[in-house]
Amino acid sequence: MKIIFFLITTLTLISSCGPKNEKKKDKFEYKKTKVEPNRQNTENNQGQIKIVLNSFDTMVFDKKVIEVKSGKKILLTLNHKGKIGKEFMGHNFVLLKKGTDVDEFAKRAVKAKKLDYIPEGNETIAYTKMIGGGESTTINFQAPKPGVYIYICSFPGHYSLMKGEFIVKE
Ligand code: CU
Repeated sequence: MKIIFFLITTLTLISSCGPKNEKKKDKFEYKKTKVEPNRQNTENNQGQIKIVLNSFDTMVFDKKVIEVKSGKKILLTLNHKGKIGKEFMGHNFVLLKKGTDVDEFAKRAVKAKKLDYIPEGNETIAYTKMIGGGESTTINFQAPKPGVYIYICSFPGHYSLMKGEFIVKE
């Protein structure tokens, strides 16, 4: 009798463990992503500054600071290293003009789904298209006047985590 009881308990334990482990695998993983400033931008032979900005399913950019020189041609590539599609985890890079109210801009962006979450107005210096997991996009633009500018991802709810300083030096 004791043996049977032991067997039943063991079987129950095994079967209750199985599905739990599977659930764990399905669960979305929050990995800590290293965030570091990008102060070593490489200039290619056309005099362009190449910047690579990576983004993830965890709603982060891998750079919180991007530093460039004023007037330089910037070639910026945004990579989405995640797996979730752009409908749910879309990312873009939006460089805002000085004096833009970021909160207000982001609020209007939420309503601008048809415009790829770039609201109408004249507040951007440059922006990429919205991309989903596994995608990449590249834009080029000229670095503005010296100063500190803000860049964000304008997908609804992302900018509080996906925000950085675009520092333009003389
Ligand atoms: Cu985003």
